[in-house]
Amino acid sequence: MTNAADPAVVVVTARPDPGGLTRLFALAYPTLALAEAGAALAALETRAADLVLVEAGPGLDALGLIRGLRLRPHLAHMSVLLVAGGEPAETRRLALEAGATDVVLAPLDASDLALRGRNLIALARAQEAVEIQARTLSREVEQAVAESQEREREIIRRLMLAAEFRDDQAGDHLTRVAGCVLAIADGLGLSEEEGNDIALASTMHDIGKIGVADSILRKPGPLTEPERNEMMQHALRGYRMLHDSPSRLLRLAAEIALTHHERWDGAGYPQGLRGTEIPLPGRITAVADVFDALISTRVYKPGWPLERARRFLEEQSGAHFDPGCVAAFLSRWEDVVALVEERPADRAA
Ligand SMILES: [Fe+2]
Ligand SMILES: [Fe+2]
Repeated sequence: MTNAADPAVVVVTARPDPGGLTRLFALAYPTLALAEAGAALAALETRAADLVLVEAGPGLDALGLIRGLRLRPHLAHMSVLLVAGGEPAETRRLALEAGATDVVLAPLDASDLALRGRNLIALARAQEAVEIQARTLSREVEQAVAESQEREREIIRRLMLAAEFRDDQAGDHLTRVAGCVLAIADGLGLSEEEGNDIALASTMHDIGKIGVADSILRKPGPLTEPERNEMMQHALRGYRMLHDSPSRLLRLAAEIALTHHERWDGAGYPQGLRGTEIPLPGRITAVADVFDALISTRVYKPGWPLERARRFLEEQSGAHFDPGCVAAFLSRWEDVVALVEERPADRAA
C-alpha cells in the first residue's frame, strides 16, 4: 500500500521495477516508491518518514540524496538505509560519511534488508514516542511551574491584604505603591517581568511592622526617641522574616524590606547605605512608598495634594532619592495621576 501523503517508508530506486524492494515493506507499512532524488526531497519536505531506503544505481546519486536529506533539520535524525554495491569497506565509509544510518551491501539479501529496515522503523517509532512523551512532560512541567508561581503570587497578595488592614487605615497604600513601582520600573526601562516582580515584592516592604505595637504604629502624634527606634526596627525585622526563603520573590522582598528606608545621600537606615550601594528595588520602592505616604492621610497628618508631593520628590532628588528613579517616576506622571484617581488615597483636598 502506498500513501503519498503520509508514507512510513520511502523507497528511492532507479530500477525500472521497484516492486522487488517495496514489497519487503509495503504489506506492513504505507510505502512510497520514487525514482528521483528531487521527488524524494519533495515528498519529505515537511515530514520525516520512519525509514528512507535509497538504492544506489545508474541515474540516481544516492549519496548526494542522503546529504540533501541531512541538510534539512527535520530530517537530521531520520533512519536512512543505503543499498549499494562496491568494495564493502569503502562503500560503508562513504555511506556513513554522507549521513546514512546503515548500509546493506549488494548483492542484496532480501531478508537481511527487510530485517534491518524493520529494526530501523521500530527504532524510529520508539524514538518518536519518547519525543512526544518528552514534549508532553515538558508542557506539563511548564504548566505546573506557572500554576505554582501564580499560587505564590496569589498567597503574597492575600497576605498583604491582611497586613494592610492593620497598618494602613487609609486603604490601598500597597496597591498604589506597587503601581508607582511599576511606573518607575517602566520609566527606567526594566522588563515587564522585572517590574512585576519588584512591584509585588514591594508590597512586603513594611511587613516587619507586624512586630511593632499598635500604640506606636497608630500613635496620633510625633513618636518619642525610643518609639522611633522601635519603629525603625521594622526594616531589619522584615528582612529577617523573608531573607532565607527559597522563593526568589520573597528574597527580593527581603532586600526591599531592608533597604526601602535607605537614602541616596547615605542618611537613611538601617545600614546608612549610599547611592548605588542601595539595591535598585530598594531605591525604586523608596520613591513609591514616600510619595504614597505623602498623599495619604495618616492618624498624625493630612494627605498632601499630588503636586505638592511631586515637588517634594523633585526637591529630594539626589538627597533622599535616587535621581534616576525620580526622573523615571516623573516621566510616567500621567500614569501615576490616573492610578491615584482610580484608587484615591484618603487625602485632604
Ligand atoms: Fe517602612
Ligand atoms: Fe509603606
